[in-house]
Amino acid sequence: MKKFSRWIGSLLAGLTIALTFAASPALAEQDRHGMENDMPIPTDEAALENGKDRYQARCSYCHRPDGRGGSSGVCLACQKYKHGSRSSQIYATIAAGKPYTKMGAFASTLSSEEIFNIVAYIRALQEWKLKDDAAADSGAGK
Ligand code: HEC
Repeated sequence: MKKFSRWIGSLLAGLTIALTFAASPALAEQDRHGMENDMPIPTDEAALENGKDRYQARCSYCHRPDGRGGSSGVCLACQKYKHGSRSSQIYATIAAGKPYTKMGAFASTLSSEEIFNIVAYIRALQEWKLKDDAAADSGAGK
């Protein structure tokens, strides 16, 4: 029994060390698994400004100004998406909406350019949240 608990002890210690070293450098890539742009999104400042403006006017009411979701909209700044988080999938969700939910279709009231600009702005909201999460993690580790 004694031998067994020593064995478990060293196994746990080994695991802790392995996890600590494995997690830190790989984290950045893993954290971005929900940000694949299979359709190119605009990167220029004017497009992002327009995306921000359209998002705040049409989406923040449900998804919150920082995109982190609230009582009536899901978190868009997060990596996990129910309907897919590739740029083409986000575009499709915004354009067509989700039937039987509060998520309406925007294809008739936003141009496709505006929708792409919003997708680009959603990526900025995701980056912002990643930064906040990293700051919170390093704060907790002190
Ligand atoms: C009236 C509230 C409301 C508004 C306004 C709204 N949404 Fe939504 N949205 C929702 C809800 C609720 C869902 C979850 C739908 C579901 O359960 O499938 C959702 C889902 C989504 C999703 C899919 C998330 C996932 O997990 O796959 C995206 C992307 C999205 N919204 C983007 C937008 C954008 C961009 C706008 C503005 C152009 C917008 N929404 C406006 C309520 C709203």
